[in-house]
Amino acid sequence: MVPDEFSVASVEAASVDAFRPYAAFLRSGEPYTSIFLNNPWLLPPKAGAELEWGQGWYYDTTVARKHDYWRNIVLPTPTKDLQQLRRNLYEWGFCLLEDGLSSEQCARIRRRVEDQAAAERALGIAYLVESQQHVWSLVNKGADFVGLLEHDPAAVQAGPMIERLLDETLGPGWNHFSLLANISYPGCHPQPMHQDQTWIAPINTGEAPVLLNTMYVLQDVNEHNGGTLLVPGAHRANGTPETGLYGPLPKPINLEAPAGTVLMFDGRLLHGGAVNHSDDFRYVLTNSCVKPWARQQENFVLEVSPEVLANASDKLLWRMGFQSSITAGLVEGYGYRGTGRQGDRVGSLREVRRELDRGYHHVGELSMDTIESVDLEALSLMRLQRENEEFRNNEHIESMAKLNDFIASRQRD
Ligand SMILES: [Fe+2]
Repeated sequence: MVPDEFSVASVEAASVDAFRPYAAFLRSGEPYTSIFLNNPWLLPPKAGAELEWGQGWYYDTTVARKHDYWRNIVLPTPTKDLQQLRRNLYEWGFCLLEDGLSSEQCARIRRRVEDQAAAERALGIAYLVESQQHVWSLVNKGADFVGLLEHDPAAVQAGPMIERLLDETLGPGWNHFSLLANISYPGCHPQPMHQDQTWIAPINTGEAPVLLNTMYVLQDVNEHNGGTLLVPGAHRANGTPETGLYGPLPKPINLEAPAGTVLMFDGRLLHGGAVNHSDDFRYVLTNSCVKPWARQQENFVLEVSPEVLANASDKLLWRMGFQSSITAGLVEGYGYRGTGRQGDRVGSLREVRRELDRGYHHVGELSMDTIESVDLEALSLMRLQRENEEFRNNEHIESMAKLNDFIASRQRD
């Protein structure tokens, strides 16, 4: 007989007006509750609705130098000065790397993205939303995208500088969250304003972001063709304990930057895709990077093609989340002794993916009663262990037998 306290009805009854210390926080809807309460002009347009101009909506804006509020405030402009970039990123939540892509790199990547996006539309497999076409899994769609994920100077000349800012902001060992193309259409809707680290809401990290986004600007962008909307400085909560996380905010600007600029922005910065008033598409790439414990937006371990996997550098694998360790990415226990670091074989999920591609055989339910019938050679885990776990030597395996002998002798006594 199950004790009555455990019944669904009893659990319900014991939960009325109960001590639930986290309930209000979990239901708070922050940071958006205080953002929209104190700034109702930030509410997004309804799906399919006509956009309204001259009424103060967030998307009805312009670049900083033409903006009533921002024109007299010194905001980040494109620079190659690393000291300046650090300060801009900290103070305003974003910075702009001048000529982060060379003109050749920018033109080459833009051509590849345009062609890929057109082909996905032609086949009817593209991903469209009201504000943008997204091209996902770029890792499989061209060598330059692999180069971007590795911050290889052959693909992005500012690679070493971008990597340094990532290391300093997220700490070492960060992973890629995603790499995609964001293509806005002529006359598209704006995106709702958001923080890219929304997936941890209502947790709001005051000290540092858990996500840093790198945007590759593939043509000149401005207020006309949909330069991304940014609220400078809105990576820091500005509310009081009485009003919530956010109080009244200044209006956003449109990003103004020449082709080849690399925008890096804090995962807490309020931003959104802008309206494209031009008669052409607007192309940017976004590459978010996150703390290594975060679940990634793109499931790179499943997504990466066998061909890309076969040629993947240790660095690419590491950044895509292929290095497991005691707290992350274990498969049937394999990876527990991994370090999570680049090139560590004991924690490499590349070997697991190869087994999966071949047809993985799981360990499943075992019993001493049927131990003789187990085909050890058929288990994928056994192959992974044999090929990668150096610590699994004869002595280690004998120690397991000794433990079984010990238990058997205890049972005899
Ligand atoms: Fe975003």
